[in-house]
Amino acid sequence: MPTQDQVDHYNSQGYMIVDDLADGEMLQRLLRASERAKAKVRAGEVDVYTHWATKDNKEPWAIRGILAPEFDETVFAEHMLSDSIMKYVHYFLGTELRLGSILIFTNPYHKDWGLGWHRDLGKQERDGSYEQEMAILNKPQFGMRWQLALVDDACLMLVPGSHRRYRTDHERECLINDGHADIPGQIAIDLKAGQAAIWNGNTIHRSVIKKDVERLTIAGSWSQNRDSDEPEETDVRFTWRLKDSVRAHLPQKMHIHYDRWRALQLG
Ligand SMILES: [Fe+2]
Repeated sequence: MPTQDQVDHYNSQGYMIVDDLADGEMLQRLLRASERAKAKVRAGEVDVYTHWATKDNKEPWAIRGILAPEFDETVFAEHMLSDSIMKYVHYFLGTELRLGSILIFTNPYHKDWGLGWHRDLGKQERDGSYEQEMAILNKPQFGMRWQLALVDDACLMLVPGSHRRYRTDHERECLINDGHADIPGQIAIDLKAGQAAIWNGNTIHRSVIKKDVERLTIAGSWSQNRDSDEPEETDVRFTWRLKDSVRAHLPQKMHIHYDRWRALQLG
């Protein structure tokens, strides 16, 4: 369970740093599995759902599908279900959970990389009026997300507190037109290997990634399952999960979470 100071920081600043999302043995296993997964993707051996930084599909910047049998790694599901994660998940979301996601953020080797400034708003309006934007930001949160650094990682930058307020004019310029300009007050989330950030995707954030600084960071999430959840068109980034072979590969303990997710998929 987080401390009150951590929770206050999370609420006011949009993130908190934790040192205990994975123990030493789990970290080593996640690191080795992530190295293997990245090597397979770069070699063209496995591509379940990869975010490529090059047109020839040689350099990934994010690797999804790591719960799929193609990668043949069980440690990612184990990490999601671990007590170390669950003590935070239960605090934020309770115990009725639906499967979230897990992927690897990494550095392409051919050139420096990074996503420009954005909030993770999905299909919601990204250039709204004060009223529109505040209505989005004020919605209750039904998810918890984390980034666990397997090697030192300071790539995530965010503007603390920006999840609670309307963007400034300069931030709008950065969000809409110039994603790589600096924003006053921005900070880099400087994670040492083994540290994690639990953070709010409504914050204004970007990534700044160096081709020659290895990045291997687990990005995971869980969702609260609610009876009122409406089915939605499957996000294209998750269609691979509809295969029966994926369910069969997951630990038995995760089937209930998977089935809740599966039940909300349309098409
Ligand atoms: Fe994002």
